Amino acid sequence: MDKKESLLKIWADICTCDKCKKIIPHINNRVFGEGNVSSPIVIVGEAPGDEEDQAAKPFVGTAGKILNEILDRARIKRHRIMIINALKCRPTKGLDNKDNRTPNWGEIQNCQPFLRRQLEILQPKVIVPMGKVAVGALFNKNPSSFALKDFEGMAQKGTMAWCVPTYHPAYVAHRGNDPKLIEKIAKHITKAKEMTRAE
Ligand code: URA
Repeated sequence: MDKKESLLKIWADICTCDKCKKIIPHINNRVFGEGNVSSPIVIVGEAPGDEEDQAAKPFVGTAGKILNEILDRARIKRHRIMIINALKCRPTKGLDNKDNRTPNWGEIQNCQPFLRRQLEILQPKVIVPMGKVAVGALFNKNPSSFALKDFEGMAQKGTMAWCVPTYHPAYVAHRGNDPKLIEKIAKHITKAKEMTRAE
């Protein structure tokens, strides 16, 4: 099976997954991710939000605009890298509730096999998990058990590739679009880019 076929197989399995009983009834779409499947960098976000759930694409809403700004600062063209999420479905607070919800540890674990399979096929040199959910999913740690500031920007050898954890773009919005935080995340991504070049 080539890369494309293997990814399509994962997509088929994502589409028939019904593990998260509190999420599935409320979604419009599942979100696989998008970008260059040969990219040496893969960004891992948390989960689709409202706009992503409607568009079936990652990072198209407010967090996506901030991510675009961060990538511009890191001099990375978005279409040249791969962007996926720890969860493929949007957690909400319930029926008719427009608010996003942070996924719980059980939901993160339910989706871990899809994330692992995606990364096994994509084989990036460096993964950039953005936010605690993505870091927890990659390192199999409940996000309530660690602080992101203890890992931010520090290269870690994961089981599948090197990782450079950083903050989530939504946290930037939460901090009033703090330009220093945007700069910090851009530096972490630049570091990841430089690591893909080092042999
Ligand atoms: N936040 C994420 O983590 N992922 C998205 O795709 C959108 C918002």
